[in-house]
Amino acid sequence: MAEAVDRLFVHCKHLVTLADGPATGPRRGAAMRRLGVVDDGAVAVRGGRVVATGPTDALARAYRAADEVDLGGRVVLPGFVDCHTHPVFARTREHEFHLRCAGADYMAIAAAGGGILSSMRAVRETPLAELAALTERRLWGFLAHGTTTVECKTGYGLSLADEEKSLRALAAARASVPLTTTRTFLGAHEFPPEYRQDRDAYVRLLCEQMIPQLAPLADACDVFAEPGVFDRAQSERVLRAARAAGLRLRMHADEIQPMGGAELAVALGADSADHLGRISDAGIAAMAASDTVGVLLPGTIFFLAKPHYAPARRMIEAGCAVAIATDFNPGSCHTQSMTLIQTIACTQMKMTAEEVITAATINPAFSLRLDGEVGSLHPGKRADLCVLDVPSWEAVGYAFGGNPVAMTVKDGAVVVRNVSQRAGASAPAAGSR
Ligand code: NIG
Ligand code: FE
Repeated sequence: MAEAVDRLFVHCKHLVTLADGPATGPRRGAAMRRLGVVDDGAVAVRGGRVVATGPTDALARAYRAADEVDLGGRVVLPGFVDCHTHPVFARTREHEFHLRCAGADYMAIAAAGGGILSSMRAVRETPLAELAALTERRLWGFLAHGTTTVECKTGYGLSLADEEKSLRALAAARASVPLTTTRTFLGAHEFPPEYRQDRDAYVRLLCEQMIPQLAPLADACDVFAEPGVFDRAQSERVLRAARAAGLRLRMHADEIQPMGGAELAVALGADSADHLGRISDAGIAAMAASDTVGVLLPGTIFFLAKPHYAPARRMIEAGCAVAIATDFNPGSCHTQSMTLIQTIACTQMKMTAEEVITAATINPAFSLRLDGEVGSLHPGKRADLCVLDVPSWEAVGYAFGGNPVAMTVKDGAVVVRNVSQRAGASAPAAGSR
């Protein structure tokens, strides 16, 4: 007697489950290359959760569904987990992009009052409701690119009132979009103009007022640890205050100049150290022996045209848990496409197709401590799917420049259906929401 489920997704040419490894915990080394691919696969869903995955003929016998969605030979992955984004901003900064293309340097633009500070001025001028509406549109943009879980940072307010406005805008936006989100307070993104002559006073404001008062609106705290921005001692003070306020820790570390950022992230037990273009050998060794995930952001290096991609191969071979993310923001990387990031990770960091899938799903889920919920298609997890209009799972990374996402499924429901990119191909049939 077939068991009743809400929905069956059938005829995935390749269903990438990541379910032949443990359901939780980071994947390291060779384990990053085990995908658990099912040919002509199917997913049975009840109550928004995965009940089972397997070959379509077996699942069609075992389960009776109120609704069946034929995925017509497409490739299906767990929904992407983008664990590093800055979506709470008011205005884009395309003029800086073209200044950089004409030879200006990212940090020089920032030192001249552009960069993060220009986004700060825009956020301070923008009413909460407008900031919420802009953020909400961007959260839908992640879904349109197959991303079903997103870590969202603030960091363009840089005052108690404007960081609170940013967190409240994020709260309003996330409440109306079918996306799993986490909230990261990034008041330590830059020193605002009113504190540039007395930087320690801003660190005190962060530690004594902003973090304790805003912690209830956030899950984690991040800091832009970089020479010329938050130095090692300042970064450590901010992160210790955050932990005391009950927040989890993340870090922008060793992005442009080496600073021992990865080592500090590990010493503090941070969930992630991100960027890592200039990570040291000691930093790699420390991360390999820790649960701090290395979140690599190759789109940023590409977009800033910098030479230092993170040493992904050495990190994976050393046993670091490696993830990739977009770093979506108005300045240093303006894309929401995890598939584009996968391409750059393959071409520039020499990661394999298997590795860029693991690095975009279960490993970032672990970095957000959401690996019990998302990141693979183990029974019991949320039924979050990224349906790709590509010929095989190996075309992940290979297909670039367009959006290959045909459909996004969140908690078992079809929430996005993109028009097919391929002439003559019909959009996949979809059940009701
Ligand atoms: O991760 N490095 C600091 N923060 C962002 C850039 C933010 C911006 O330029 O607006 C990053 O690249
Ligand atoms: Fe960032």
